[in-house]
Amino acid sequence: MFVASTYAKKEIFSYVEPDLIIFNANELITMNTKFGAPRTGDNMSELAIIKNGALAVKEDRIIFVGTTEELMSKYEFGKISTKINASNKLVTPGFVDPHTHIIFDGTRENELSMKLEGKTYIEILKAGGGILKTVRDTRNATLEKLIENGKTILDKMMSYGTTTAETKSGYGLNTECEIKQLKAIQILNEEHPIDLIPTFLGAHAIPPEYTGKTDEYVDLIISDMIPKIAKEGLAEFCDVFCEQGIFSIKQTRKILKTAIRYGLKPQIHIDEIVDTNGALLASEIKAIQTGHLLKSNNEGLKALAESGVIATLLPGTPFCLMLEEYAPARKMIELGVPIALATDLNPNCWTESMQMIITLSCYHMKLSPAEALTAATINGACALQKQDEVGSLEIGKKADLIMFEVPNHEFLPYHFGVNLVSKVIKNGRIVVDYDLNS
Ligand code: NIG
Ligand code: FE
Repeated sequence: MFVASTYAKKEIFSYVEPDLIIFNANELITMNTKFGAPRTGDNMSELAIIKNGALAVKEDRIIFVGTTEELMSKYEFGKISTKINASNKLVTPGFVDPHTHIIFDGTRENELSMKLEGKTYIEILKAGGGILKTVRDTRNATLEKLIENGKTILDKMMSYGTTTAETKSGYGLNTECEIKQLKAIQILNEEHPIDLIPTFLGAHAIPPEYTGKTDEYVDLIISDMIPKIAKEGLAEFCDVFCEQGIFSIKQTRKILKTAIRYGLKPQIHIDEIVDTNGALLASEIKAIQTGHLLKSNNEGLKALAESGVIATLLPGTPFCLMLEEYAPARKMIELGVPIALATDLNPNCWTESMQMIITLSCYHMKLSPAEALTAATINGACALQKQDEVGSLEIGKKADLIMFEVPNHEFLPYHFGVNLVSKVIKNGRIVVDYDLNS
């Protein structure tokens, strides 16, 4: 196995031939971590751009980042097998999508007409739809079917530029089916180029057989699910849907404290519909990241800034729920809360496209294109504690990158609703190539 960090140190002593180079990039966005990982405040706009940029790859690692001129003087072009001319193009780190729910069966397109009639998310759920409809379908699905569904979604995510993603269980709500979902994630992680970070979300809703007995269900999560899942090494994170009428602050704290004791990292869905002081809990429990935050109060946001918990903003969800209100991203940036962006892909909010999320974040949460790109790459990597491996284009890191058919990063939200990808490179290999068709 080739170890690039070792190589990077030896670089001055020996010449290593790259397998692949990219040159002439109009903008090469390095997201160099010297500007912070995660980036906060004004540093969110610091993309560390190299004009006429170039990059070299050996096996799965980046071995050079600089200008095309520097690249030309360093390597003998004739010997390099893959040479990509990125003239007039934008090159960025691969997107890191730190919050998704891709393992499920069945669909919920019928809920759109209910939303148009004014039904709320919680009303649909309480009527047995929403998450509970997906739970019924997912319980009935075989492991193979869940893997097949997941693969279709991952292929599409990759075609839109995602190279690393977190994904959750949460549509089983019993030990057997939660484990089935996590096994599907494990197998997909082995078989698919996208790197997957698995999260256990047994506390996603109260299963029908526990209606009115939420505390008993919490006990099942604590005494049965978490120990088994931790023992089998099936999850890296544990998540809870902390919301009025779902899991309370007290129940969430109990679940996450147990998860931490079993070596799982905490994260929480908070303050999506009602402010339950979820942000304070996220900060108290030292969650690595916390999602939604539409209703979080100032005290909670300040606590997040102080404790460095990453707020993962999911603008696809208010968009699909037809809400007027989005998470207060500008206030968060002002307070110094580190923010990341994610799709929240699930049967209620179905998009594989981080480009779409960047667009929504600019038009509805007033992020600048630069801030949005930061939130979708290096800060997303930090939300998963993978910033040493992915999220920026630096020597020694994974060669995960996107070449876009546009000249600069401001185009990403500007030319919207279409896929702007020209190539995706994952672990040093071209895994998506639209240029072949042109
Ligand atoms: O993050 N809000 C809770 N969970 C998911 C939605 C899951 C679903 O509706 O199937 C979310 O939005
Ligand atoms: Fe979610």
